[in-house]
Amino acid sequence: MPSNLIVQAPADGVRLITLHRPQALNALNTALLEELAAELHAADQDPQIRAVVITGSRKAFAAGADINEMAERDLVGILDDPRVAHWQSIAGFGKPLIAAVNGFALGGGCELVMCADIVIAGSDARFGQPEINLGILPGAGGTQRLLRAVGKPLAMQMVLGGEAIDARHALQAGLVSEVTEPELTVERALQVAVAIAAKAPLAVRLAKEALLKAQDMDLASGLRFERHAFTLLAGTADRNEGIRAFQEKRPARFQGL
Ligand code: HXC
Repeated sequence: MPSNLIVQAPADGVRLITLHRPQALNALNTALLEELAAELHAADQDPQIRAVVITGSRKAFAAGADINEMAERDLVGILDDPRVAHWQSIAGFGKPLIAAVNGFALGGGCELVMCADIVIAGSDARFGQPEINLGILPGAGGTQRLLRAVGKPLAMQMVLGGEAIDARHALQAGLVSEVTEPELTVERALQVAVAIAAKAPLAVRLAKEALLKAQDMDLASGLRFERHAFTLLAGTADRNEGIRAFQEKRPARFQGL
């Protein structure tokens, strides 16, 4: 049983993972990262789970890597630090991951947000990469994913200056997809997850992969990937079901085949 997470099944096909280290504003220590990586791995393997929502508390989604733990560890051997593998595993989650963010999402917390595919932010959310204040730089994708999300000038301002931005700014910059009242953040994220959970699972998985390719690949390669994925789905039972349901004017019943 994870001790730094609360894991719930609020709806068919949907997992809700709540980061729960309230004494440290959900700072991401090794134990929490390991539990999160394991939980996401299990969700990836479970065909019943179609989408995952990740959230924190009202005060903090996550205030970054655990600075006290960082103080104890030597830099020597950092590349085989288990946290590196946990981060890679979290970032490689293949199913839709929706972040519901209230309060602080700083450092590793902001990087965790950027591992999510869809981000619903409460109006009180704050996003930042304050690592520069500690004499370091973001180490879990914060330079790479932030620049791709918000563009160069704002990424530079946040990473070099350590400035945080509020939810409205994050929306305008492209770091989040929607802003809600803080009380409604998780509810709205769950609504989005429930809607996705009802779609054809293979199409959802390939669509996520294709969209992520757009960040990593040149256009011609990305278009080739999209065409292959489109062709692959043409042979699925769910594609036939989707089209038949449309013609018969009824909801589709997708089975992941
Ligand atoms: C460990 C943390 C923590 C953190 C907060 N706490 N953030 N502990 N690691 N990242 C602890 C505080 O020490 C305190 O514990 C308790 O949580 C409540 O925090 P306060 O500071 O009292 O709250 P507040 O005054 O409201 O300020 C909130 C805050 C501030 C602005 C978020 O806590 C803050 O600046 N935190 C650090 C943010 C940060 O620098 N993040 C980047 C980390 S580096 P006690 O025991 O005193 O009550 C990083 C690198 C990623 O993320 C690399 C990935 C590979």
